[in-house]
This record gives sequence, C-alpha cells and structure tokens, in this order.
Amino acid sequence: MTLAHLLHLQGIESVVLESHTREYIENRVRAGVLEQGTAELLRESGVGERMDREGLQHNGIELRFGGAGHRIDFKELTGESITIYAQQEVIKDLIAARLGYGAPICFEAEALRVADVHAQPRIFYRQRGVEHVVACDFIAGCDGFHGICRPAIPADRLQIQERQYPFAWLGILARVPPASDELIYTYHERGFALMSMRSPEVSRLYLQCAPEEDIQNWPDDRIWEELRTRMATREGFALNDGPIFQKSITPMRGFAAEPMQYERLFLLGDAAHIVPPTGAKGLNLAIADVRVMTRGLVDIYKNGKRDGLANYTERCLKRVWKVQRFSAWMTAMLHRFENEGAFSHNIHLAELDYVTTSRAASTALAENYVGLPFDTPGLF
Ligand code: PHB
Repeated sequence: MTLAHLLHLQGIESVVLESHTREYIENRVRAGVLEQGTAELLRESGVGERMDREGLQHNGIELRFGGAGHRIDFKELTGESITIYAQQEVIKDLIAARLGYGAPICFEAEALRVADVHAQPRIFYRQRGVEHVVACDFIAGCDGFHGICRPAIPADRLQIQERQYPFAWLGILARVPPASDELIYTYHERGFALMSMRSPEVSRLYLQCAPEEDIQNWPDDRIWEELRTRMATREGFALNDGPIFQKSITPMRGFAAEPMQYERLFLLGDAAHIVPPTGAKGLNLAIADVRVMTRGLVDIYKNGKRDGLANYTERCLKRVWKVQRFSAWMTAMLHRFENEGAFSHNIHLAELDYVTTSRAASTALAENYVGLPFDTPGLF
C-alpha cells in the first residue's frame, strides 16, 4: 500500500492485489512501532495527519533487569524518537488516501501465479470465483512470507538463510491503560517480557514462552501473574490487569532470501526477510525496501535511467543485514536460551548493565532503534 501510494504521487500507475477483505486488513493486529524515518515518510507523503494526532511519540524505552529499570533516552542520544501507531491504522490511512484519489485496490483477490517475468510480467489472480490477469512492467512482491512471489524465483537462483529461535512470544492486547509511558523490555531469569501499547487505553504485552506452547494453558490470570513476576521491581512496580481481548503465540525466526530481485520480479518486506520482533523492525524494514523500489522506478520512468533498479538487492540487503544484526542482538540479550546456567545469566546482566551505563553502548542501541540513516535522505 505504501509503495502504491508513493508511486501514485510520482504519477506511476499500479494495481494493488489484496488477498483479504478491507475489513480484515484494517483490523488485523500487527506491529506498532514506527521509526522516525518511517513516520516522516508517511507524513511527507500526505498520510500522516491521523498518525500525528493519535500516534504516541516516545523519546526512549526502558530496559529492566535485576529488579530495576534503566532508561535509554533516544532523544538525548540521537535527537530522534519513535511513534507508536498500529500497522492497521497506517493501512486504514493508506486505503482511505488511495480510494480518495480514485486509484484501484482489488480486495479479496487471490494471487495464483506470476508468469513471463523476463519480458512482460503477468499476475493471474482469482476474485469472487473468476480468474483475471494483470499485465505490467514490474511485479512488486509485497505478499508476505507465505506469498507466491518468492517461490516464483527459480530455486537454483535463490539463497535462503535462516535462524530458528528456541522460543516464541505469547502476546496479548488488554483494555487497560499502559503501566508506563514508554515501552519496557524486561530480562528475567524466567524469560523475556515486554510491555508495549496501542493507545492510552490499550496495552500490548508479551511473554517469552516455549515455541510449542499451547495457548489453552495460559488463562488470563496466569498471564498477568507471569508478567508481574518477570516485570517486578524493588520499587514495587504495579501492573494492573484488565480484560484481555486478543491472545496469540508467535514463533521467532530470522530469515533472509537473496537475491531480492529476479528479472522484473521484486521482493519487498516479509516476502524477502523476517526479523525477530525484539527490535520492532519488521514494518520499518519493509518500508525501507519500498523506498529503494520507489526510487528505482522513478529513475526508470521519470529520469530515463533504464538500469534504475539494477542494484535493488544490494541496496536493500545493506539495511536488511544491519537490521537482522540488531534484531538478533536485542533477542539474544533479552531472552533466556535453553540450558542457560548461572554463567550465561551473569553475561546477560553484565551486557544489560553495560548497555545502560555506557553512553557509547546506549547510543548504539538508540540509533538502531530509531532507525539507521538512509544513503539518500528525503523521499525520492
Ligand atoms: C508491539 O507493540 O507490538 C511491539 C513493540 C515493540 C517490539 C515488538 C512489538 O519490539
């Protein structure tokens, strides 16, 4: 949706095929943290008005361990901040903008296969039982990890790199005001816990759990109890409970496909890469791919550069691997791994102590969290 929006602003036509209904994607609970650059891109492209009104600007996060909290002050360390604004709200704003200027979105359009990506790409899709085809110059595969675009790249051209984590996140949404103004990332002997939010009335909380954990074993009381145990501080941190209206278990993995382009087919976001959620980077990394693709297409259509997308993979991957590194580092620092004894526990505590007391180390975390700079500033 973001890519289609930016292309529209540049006078480049696109067709959006969305497999779900509008209602489904406007309500599906996904990410919630926007890097400063992501928020700026939405603002500069004219879809940031509600985000600026309803989004929550955060100037830091808390790292909690050993029964005490330690703030990382993004604003002071980097001059930048993050915005808490749910992905489905971004989606609503982009849909409203696109329908507002009369550009098409094909909802409930199930992409079946792509063809002729060497010359005249086509996408076959089914909508309300009828098969259709779109012919185009380029295909942007923004179809997620399970989509059809990545498998359309010949297997002998594609390298997959993957890391499976031996844990998952149990996530909840609860109708209760957030227990703190800023996100709290907690390391505890019993495992990681995260307090995040969606609004002044809705908290989003996560607990590290086993990957094969059955959600049935987690009645609401047990979840609150475990969150309280892991997040407890010597100062007596109070976590109020409230009605839980969404519960889910998310496995954790790192994944990267290379190249991200084959002929006239391009992969963006989760179609090409997955990061563990500890760095809050998934949505932001997808938007970074969108920037590269938009610039390339603008070079091709407006600046007469036929090779405008020639370095697509290299340009995207530079950021992908930095973000994989940051996400893997945050994950390793904050989670308990299998068979960790007292030695490993002390390494976790020492690392957290270092990160929260060394200005250099705090700055390294902060500059990654708010979003690393782009080679070329500005929108296009
Ligand atoms: C969320 O609010 O869903 C969230 C926040 C920070 C993370 C991951 C998820 O690192």
